[in-house]
Amino acid sequence: MQIKLAESYGFCFGVKRAIKIAENTQNASTIGPLIHNNEEINRLRENFNVKTLHDISEAKGVDKAIIRTHGIPKKDLEKLVNSNVEVINATCPYVTKPQEICEKMSQEGYEIVIFGDANHPEVKGVESYAIHGAFVVQSIDELEQIVFKKGKIAVVSQTTRKVSEFLEITSHLITHYKEVRVFNTICNATFENQDAARKLAKEADVVIVIGGKNSSNTKQLHSICKEYCPDSFLVESEKDLDPSWFNGKMLCGVTAGASTPDWIIQKIIEKISEIKV
Ligand code: F3S
Repeated sequence: MQIKLAESYGFCFGVKRAIKIAENTQNASTIGPLIHNNEEINRLRENFNVKTLHDISEAKGVDKAIIRTHGIPKKDLEKLVNSNVEVINATCPYVTKPQEICEKMSQEGYEIVIFGDANHPEVKGVESYAIHGAFVVQSIDELEQIVFKKGKIAVVSQTTRKVSEFLEITSHLITHYKEVRVFNTICNATFENQDAARKLAKEADVVIVIGGKNSSNTKQLHSICKEYCPDSFLVESEKDLDPSWFNGKMLCGVTAGASTPDWIIQKIIEKISEIKV
């Protein structure tokens, strides 16, 4: 069986940047997981004494706090900045952007729509910058439930969403309201990894998607691969591999989410190549 990597996969710019910041800072705590990958978080703890706190209530007595790639709610950031903690902000610039847009557009009187998952930390953070709150939607159905008061709407997307679905949301808004400001805040890393995953899944007969099971962009990659190659599986480590997935297969595609480090990818590829098909 041949193993083929996607043309673009794995760590994105924002995650590479956050890990560099954490490695350089050392002896610090992150507010929430720095990135959505448990194995990498363990490595940072063991090698650089970078611990993970659940939320800012645990930050008392901490010297240095690193803000994770997905950002944190505005009030939490303000509380930290005003306390004695040294704050190192590793929020990805592509996440800071929708935060700024929500703040600015809500100041200008626009009602804010965020296309994304209301429970995702990035979305909670972005939402907190809208001064009068925001409507977070995942579907047209949810959008139709909203009663907009002003008809002046600004819409942003969670960085890791599918472009095609964002287009459906924005088209619906544009069809129904006179003034809609659309900000495409989906990040390039997501586009590139998604396009490459699609291309790979079309030719492979089994696809392994590597990444955290709580990582939104890894789940998106998995769903894209499944569309083109039904035998697509999401794994976090080599322990999740099931040899029966590869029975009779000729080409195994491998891709990885934006917070998956290369050392995990290499380990999994080695394990796949040992499987007898
Ligand atoms: Fe940033 Fe995009 Fe990565 S938002 S953290 S560069 S997936």
